[in-house]
Amino acid sequence: MTGTAEVVVRKVEREDAPWKARFEAFYADCDIKKMGRKLHAYFAAYAGEELAGHCVIYREKGRWIMDGLRVKAEFREQGLGKRLTEARIRHAIENGAKEVWYSCDDGNLVTICCHLRYGFEKVCPADHHCNAATVHWYRLKITPALLEKFPAIKP
Ligand SMILES: CC(C)(COP(=O)(O)OP(=O)(O)OC[C@H]1O[C@@H](n2cnc3c(N)ncnc32)[C@H](O)[C@@H]1OP(=O)(O)O)[C@@H](O)C(=O)NCCC(=O)NCCS
Repeated sequence: MTGTAEVVVRKVEREDAPWKARFEAFYADCDIKKMGRKLHAYFAAYAGEELAGHCVIYREKGRWIMDGLRVKAEFREQGLGKRLTEARIRHAIENGAKEVWYSCDDGNLVTICCHLRYGFEKVCPADHHCNAATVHWYRLKITPALLEKFPAIKP
């Protein structure tokens, strides 16, 4: 668990009915990918009882993929997006990841928040047909230099 006195970031340990109800309300206005039987971990940021941010990392076709990052408007620009991203990268590393992937379209703020600072690079995977209309894929290689630069992602 990581956190300041105000907001705590932690892995969702139980995907129970109360969590599911809050999850569905949190993403009510957007199309959020269903995890189904994929290996995955949700991470949430709580300000007291309030859900301030949420996201997921899952494994698909051998890749660890981050998705669904959202911080409630009143909690934005306070570092929560970064903390949720670092928690997911750390989780992937703890589970043996050598790379972490992400996809989004151009102009998405998540790119600023979650790619540039960590060193994600735009890559077109073999099974993807990249063009201006598609999302773009980004890959972060886990290296000793990365862990040195961002101690919060060290397992
Ligand atoms: C993108 C998002 C997750 C960022 O969350 P956040 O908690 O505000 O991010 P952070 O505070 O950790 O900021 C991370 C970086 O992004 C930058 N950033 C965040 N919001 C920004 C904005 N409005 N304009 C410019 N830069 C911005 C910050 O400056 C920071 O970089 P810095 O530390 O180098 O200054 C948040 O804006 C969000 O949830 N947006 C809506 C996403 C959404 O609803 N998607 C649909 C999902 S289904």
